[in-house]
Amino acid sequence: MTNAVEARGVGKVFSSRSGEVSALEGIDLHVAAGEFVSLIGPSGCGKSTLLRLIADLDTPTTGELTVFGKTPQQAREAQDYGIAFQQAGLLPWRTVTANVELPLELHGVGKGERAVRAKELLSLVGLDEFAGHFPHQLSGGMQQRVAIARSLAERPSLLLMDEPFGALDEMTRERMQTELVRICAESGAAVVFVTHSIPEAVFLSQRVVVMSPRPGRISAVVPITLGDVRGEGLREDASFFAAVTAVREALHGTPVTARGVDLR
Ligand SMILES: Nc1ncnc2c1ncn2[C@@H]1O[C@H](COP(=O)(O)OP(=O)(O)OP(=O)(O)O)[C@@H](O)[C@H]1O
Ligand SMILES: [Mg+2]
Repeated sequence: MTNAVEARGVGKVFSSRSGEVSALEGIDLHVAAGEFVSLIGPSGCGKSTLLRLIADLDTPTTGELTVFGKTPQQAREAQDYGIAFQQAGLLPWRTVTANVELPLELHGVGKGERAVRAKELLSLVGLDEFAGHFPHQLSGGMQQRVAIARSLAERPSLLLMDEPFGALDEMTRERMQTELVRICAESGAAVVFVTHSIPEAVFLSQRVVVMSPRPGRISAVVPITLGDVRGEGLREDASFFAAVTAVREALHGTPVTARGVDLR
């Protein structure tokens, strides 16, 4: 089966007046179809840059990158992936429903079908009652949930998420994590998920990719094997703590202190 993401020797250099920044160097990463992979590492190690390259929001300086065997541009045009970033990026003049419907509208899905899908998605993220509200009438966390609903609208086979739960309170965050695991199991979507939280990465992922900065490199890949316990109980299971420790040790093995990494 074709990998959802395949990066071979990917590098990214940003040039500016003050010189060149090697944001990424020699990135080799394969994400299988349906696999959940998290990227974790100190601030500035290139996590967002890598996600942006996969999303075709920027282009690599070196190396090769494919998404379902296509170029990132072809994958974007085929609507293979959905994106949810830290900033919700909602259109202020559109209601919650109209924001969620936007990608469907852009791709010519009919009115009735759009409405059904938007309703389904808003109920999924617990915002049924806010369908007719405008973004400024919602809290930051609620806006973020709208953005997540929108990213799922087209049932993408790959989700690219950059700290999507960063603005949420701890309880909502854990609920969204549980929801995301369920959504992925149901939809079979692969996910590349950027986070600063070790427990979040462990809870969600099949593999945690640990990165180190200057230049941004992959310093370790930690496979997550958890016990049979599923759902909320997992957070209190010994296998969960063991995996958290394994990721923490991999992070601290990086040459700089893991600044910006949340040990919650
Ligand atoms: N458009 C840009 N122009 C110049 N330099 C950039 C640009 N985008 C990112 N960089 C640099 O590339 C490096 C990696 O940035 P990136 O945003 O990918 O880090 P990150 O791992 O997502 O960090 P954080 O955890 O703080 O979000 C940083 O040194 C940053 O300054
Ligand atoms: Mg970032």
